[in-house]
Amino acid sequence: MNILAIESSCDETSAAVITNGKIRSNIVATQIIHQLYGGVVPELASRAHQQHIIPVVVEALQTAKVTKNELSAIAFTRGPGLLGALLVGASFAKSMALGLDLPLIEVNHMQAHVLAHFIDDPAPSFPFLCLTVSGGHTQIVLVRNFLDMEIIGQTQDDAVGEAFDKSAKLLGLPYPGGPLIDKYAQRGNPLAFSLPTGEMPALDFSFSGIKTAILYFLQKQTRQNPNFIDQNLADICASIQHTLVKTLMQKLKKAALQTGIRQIAIAGGVSANSGLRAALVQAGQANKWEVYVPKFEYCTDNAAMIAMAAHYKYLEADFCGQDVSPLPRMTFG
Ligand code: KG4
Ligand code: ZN
Repeated sequence: MNILAIESSCDETSAAVITNGKIRSNIVATQIIHQLYGGVVPELASRAHQQHIIPVVVEALQTAKVTKNELSAIAFTRGPGLLGALLVGASFAKSMALGLDLPLIEVNHMQAHVLAHFIDDPAPSFPFLCLTVSGGHTQIVLVRNFLDMEIIGQTQDDAVGEAFDKSAKLLGLPYPGGPLIDKYAQRGNPLAFSLPTGEMPALDFSFSGIKTAILYFLQKQTRQNPNFIDQNLADICASIQHTLVKTLMQKLKKAALQTGIRQIAIAGGVSANSGLRAALVQAGQANKWEVYVPKFEYCTDNAAMIAMAAHYKYLEADFCGQDVSPLPRMTFG
């Protein structure tokens, strides 16, 4: 069973081939054009997907040593994501499935982030909790089975990745700033500056306040010392990261207590963050959790995770028709 999967929800064009549940290729073309604008420009993302999609698919098939005639199904990200970006992948997948007379599989991008944990061993067993943290989402997911998941907490405003990227922008760092905050934070003191954490009831999050707090903090400090950011970059980054990670971990611990679940995973672009990874391992030791952290290449957007989700859907013959269109705000559970 060979499935070709396509991911085009934001600013990575990616294609992967999965054979009987094993990833054979995972090609990712990152769009660097957005760096010029300090964030993803939807129209430019769609154009770049158009340029990249054919070479990325060809390379994925070649690397996997699978021809298009040996495919069993075509999968694509239906949502959530940018409509124009999703349309490129969806249209390509639909045309290919139609041309080759193959079944089509639609995949929810956020469920796929969770299923990235099944690409390699060791995989968590059910039920487990997954903190899915990306540029567009912050969710605590109760995972009962491969395709049976429930969102038990989520952000009510900005995503945590957005908080990283917007904070980085205020510091004059290029997009995406999350990985740069992580890099500078490693040389800084996380307790150098105290920043407020957003308060939200239950298992929900709020990250919009911290951005404003950082803006006012930087304005005040640079009025007194115009070189404040340059002189304190590592300490500022470490303090921002510490505050964001602390907020995430507080709710994750609460979710573990409430559900009694001790198998805890993280997923999504922000799960590449070294502070979050370290905090999870530490909390795991303190609370006797079994913790699961994906490989770096499967944290940020990739088609291997879409292929993994498609594999489980294929086993259940969960196919979709040609009439299925992208859903920018697609959810689950
Ligand atoms: O999952 P992803 O690739 O795309 C979305 O579905 O949004 O996540 C991208 C987000 C960006 O906000 C990026 O800054 C953040 O993940 N990110 C990080 C790190 N690596 C990626 N944030 C903090 N530390 C990192 N090391
Ligand atoms: Zn993502």
